[in-house]
Amino acid sequence: MGNISVKLNGSARRYEIKIGHDLLNNCSRWAQKCLSPETKKIALVSNAKVFRLYGEVVKKSFENAGLEVFVWKMGDGEKYKNLCSLEKALKFFSQNKLKRTDAAVALGGGVVGDLAGFAAAIYLRGISFLQIPTTLLAMIDSSVGGKTAVNTEFGKNLIGAFYQPNGVLIDVKTLRTLPRRELVAGFCEAVKQGAIANQKLFDQTAEFLKNYSPANFKNCFSDKKFLVELENLLAAQVRFKAEIVMQDERESVARIDGKSRKILNFGHTLAHALEKVTDYKYFKHGEAVGCGILFAAELSKKLNILDNSELKLLNDVLRRVGKLPDTSNIKIEKVFEAFAFDKKTIGESLQFILLEKIGKPVILQTGDIPKSAIEKSLETVLHR
Ligand code: NAD
Ligand code: GLY
Repeated sequence: MGNISVKLNGSARRYEIKIGHDLLNNCSRWAQKCLSPETKKIALVSNAKVFRLYGEVVKKSFENAGLEVFVWKMGDGEKYKNLCSLEKALKFFSQNKLKRTDAAVALGGGVVGDLAGFAAAIYLRGISFLQIPTTLLAMIDSSVGGKTAVNTEFGKNLIGAFYQPNGVLIDVKTLRTLPRRELVAGFCEAVKQGAIANQKLFDQTAEFLKNYSPANFKNCFSDKKFLVELENLLAAQVRFKAEIVMQDERESVARIDGKSRKILNFGHTLAHALEKVTDYKYFKHGEAVGCGILFAAELSKKLNILDNSELKLLNDVLRRVGKLPDTSNIKIEKVFEAFAFDKKTIGESLQFILLEKIGKPVILQTGDIPKSAIEKSLETVLHR
């Protein structure tokens, strides 16, 4: 059973993030601690692929605990994280007569978690919600912190709610089946969190990647040392994310200090632009973040706020993560157009999260940065 527990004491809800391996068989025992004794029905939200791998064991565990389980499988992929799927999820909850005391459980990656979380937030004005993330990105980032959302024609993740789960269960063994590109995407987010957190988390992430390459991950799961190190790394990553969330739960618009929740968007200004100019079909989100980190670090160096040695370190660690998609055909002017679109849709001025050193992010407005420095940094990173 799970051996590491991280607590998130939010203003809206306190909950535990449990990290370990071989946890799914017994997940109902954990779930019942997170839920009210009144809970009788569970809407298990997943997709066909993840359910085939892990769904039955989760379902059986809930059923053995006397809960009635209704499984709803959404389409697999970002394009299904939309209002149409949301409506289907709500209809499913309603057809199965879920009451306010019942719960939704997300079993899957960030797409399933974001959609199920939003459905849980608005169905009957909010029912209990548990996250069982099965991608690395979802484990260290999207399942923790209560951001839920869907995509619409006017932008990605712009319709949603802050809705904290009642608990998060991370079984690292589910990563055994995760495709390599998804692992790379997740590790880019891990490097991001290490870079903005502190030298310790950055070094721990870098060291883990030195010992265990995502290219050879699958073969490591029988190694006890690997499991311990993986669980420790994920716990440290989750602890950092929880700390940031606890002191700026709703990402205050006005805050621009180095502990604002906005710093979690390190690498994301370019990532969003790259995803947009490639019509959300070319990059995994985390891969785009990998490119975004390199760009933010390069720009920080150009503005003389980051040392060359730290820039090199970030490049080295991201190289250990794996190959990022080729960006040589991406036109710089298209990226600028996408920056402008981002700015318009959020109705705020565009911000860049830059780095003074590992563990010291700074938030700058676009107006404070010469366009030529942005252009040159894009050239260096995208057309190297
Ligand atoms: P995803 O949910 O699309 O999962 C990636 C792929 O892996 C899918 O095909 C999925 O079916 C498959 N998969 C999942 N678990 C698996 C497993 N254990 N074995 C084999 N295959 C598995 O992608 P993701 O990267 O997990 O999440 C991306 C989403 O998360 C985006 O929509 C992004 O906007 C969102 N996100 C949200 C937050 C937040 O704070 N809420 C933060 C970061 C990202
Ligand atoms: N992924 C960014 C956040 O949770 O704020």
